[in-house]
Amino acid sequence: MKKLGTVLAAMAMATGVYAQNHVFDVNTSKVGGSIPSTMYGIFFEDINYAADGGLYGELVKNRSFEFPQNLMGWKAFGKYELKNDGPFKKNPHYVRLHDSGHRDKFTGLENEGFFGIGYQKNAEYRFTVWARNPKDDGDVTVRVLLCDPNTMSERQQFTEGKIVVSGKDWKKYEIVLKAGKTVDKGTLRLMLTRNSKTVDLEHVSLFPVDVYKGDANGLRKDLAQALEDLHPGVFRFPGGCIVEGTDLATRYQWKNSVGPVENRPLNENRWHYTFDYRFFPDYYQSYGLGFYEYFRLSEQIGAEPLPVLSVGLSCEFQNGDKRGDMHVDVDQLQPYIDDVLDLIEFANGDPAKNSWAKLRADMGHPAPFNLKYVAIGNEQWGAIYPENLKPFIEQVRKKYPNIKIIGTSGPDSEGGKFDYLWPEMRKLGVDLVDEHFYRNEEWFLKSGNRYDNYKRGKGQPKVFAGEYACHGKGKKWNHFNAALMEAAFMTDLERNADVVEMATYAPLFAHVDGWQWRPDAIWYDNLRSFNSCSYYVQQLYSLNKGTNMLSLTMNGKPVAGNDGQDGLFASAVFDKNTSEVIIKVINTGDKAQGVTFNLKGMKKGDYSAQLVTLHSDNLTAENTLDAPKAIVPQTKTVSVAAPTTDISVPARTFAIYKIKK
Ligand code: AHR
Repeated sequence: MKKLGTVLAAMAMATGVYAQNHVFDVNTSKVGGSIPSTMYGIFFEDINYAADGGLYGELVKNRSFEFPQNLMGWKAFGKYELKNDGPFKKNPHYVRLHDSGHRDKFTGLENEGFFGIGYQKNAEYRFTVWARNPKDDGDVTVRVLLCDPNTMSERQQFTEGKIVVSGKDWKKYEIVLKAGKTVDKGTLRLMLTRNSKTVDLEHVSLFPVDVYKGDANGLRKDLAQALEDLHPGVFRFPGGCIVEGTDLATRYQWKNSVGPVENRPLNENRWHYTFDYRFFPDYYQSYGLGFYEYFRLSEQIGAEPLPVLSVGLSCEFQNGDKRGDMHVDVDQLQPYIDDVLDLIEFANGDPAKNSWAKLRADMGHPAPFNLKYVAIGNEQWGAIYPENLKPFIEQVRKKYPNIKIIGTSGPDSEGGKFDYLWPEMRKLGVDLVDEHFYRNEEWFLKSGNRYDNYKRGKGQPKVFAGEYACHGKGKKWNHFNAALMEAAFMTDLERNADVVEMATYAPLFAHVDGWQWRPDAIWYDNLRSFNSCSYYVQQLYSLNKGTNMLSLTMNGKPVAGNDGQDGLFASAVFDKNTSEVIIKVINTGDKAQGVTFNLKGMKKGDYSAQLVTLHSDNLTAENTLDAPKAIVPQTKTVSVAAPTTDISVPARTFAIYKIKK
């Protein structure tokens, strides 16, 4: 017998009385395949000052004086010298300060931070420096001042401490200072006291004491917390294009990013010059946030670590795909393959048997990180990519058969490069294929069935939607409509969770003063941060991902914004842990839509349900630093009747119904 809702809908169609009603058949009695725990994740790249100046807690820019212009980020005054025979081999530069020679003159250094240094009144800051008195002729006092250079007050410094340096051997000095004022664009000033002696300073560092989980070499707390709050299933790092480098010498090299921070060599950041209209000549990678820290963070936020490594090809956007100086020939690839094999040891190996595993233990993590995935290559294309990838796969499979390998389908969501690479990836037998799509609203509206007909089953690679975001036509920022488009599209990921194993919105972070690429999930200045509407869409999917797929159809078809579906998108899952049927409905249109849930398999009765919505009347509205919660999810309790219930989904709304079975 037809359910009441279906009958009503049929009557409605015949009479036109309820012409707007859409009947969603949700089969709650037949639980489908499981939703992978990795399904909704995060993608981190040091773009938009995401690492140095962002997630990484360090407040001093160019702390080791290794930028090509060694004093970039610093103002040096008085009598000083730049030296290059310091205690850290890979960062040899340091600064020597001499007494000015005059009672009324001063010698010292002042650091501008990343777009200034943010100080919060009463918060504590840990200042450390490596120092020595090269002449060994007694104590040298260095004043450490937290300053507000833009103040009209009597004194620029609002907090002062000092370190007393003695002896000719390099030693690490530390003091903790409590900020006497809140300043968003402060500085750190170091001054020799009057009539002083000579002092050498290296690796000048300042961290908030209150970093995420209190870790040494820690992370900015609000930003790391925002990641934890996403409950990501997978954490992809460290990029993106920086994995490839503009040239091979500047590719991300993970081995340089581990071990003592003082000896991690500087790398260029290609995002400092990628767009001449968003140009940041002081953007480098200190590697202070390196692979150890990425693994540690993965563990802390409960996400599977997913490192991406170079396949021996530098950025093909910048260098093309013909072999030459910019790409490594297949017979020269062994050092690159070793980087992958050694990384697996660094993450999982036995410290007693392997030196990379020992380094992990020495850094504070004797237990393995339990790495399960590696991605090899970022946005590569052309025959050059599968040629290079093949020997990586052979060697990784031989030594580590349980590690899942991720290849790429290139930079486009479809087209020639994509169509060429997918079959190549199948031939090579990768476990997952990384797809990227930064596309406009129309693309998202038309892509609701993207994965419905993907090849699936044994031997077929799964999909990793590794970078995606809606880039609105003519409005490339984090407006509400972009988030709504993403929410609509994500019903396709959810419905096809047997094909899509993981998906990561991109990019993750952006400093409001230093971005190169937008939209982004999380924005910040030196003291504040906010989550974009897109962040909340990701969070809503992640918190409501359920454990198993459920079939949801309208007239026997998926609800994916197709003709006759009035801009509706929908998907359903079951959560075995909470016994909830979770239905996501996105109305992308400008009219409210009536929907009947036909909940097959639910006992007749009234159920209390949670309704979570994300909505804005203004499609171009966004969250900002000043109005961080302008558009956030709203939750209320509603009553839902089974087996059929009628609901209305307001225009431009992402709605989630959570019904306890
Ligand atoms: O996310 C920004 C960039 O977009 C990534 O670095 C790259 O993989 C893609 O082109």
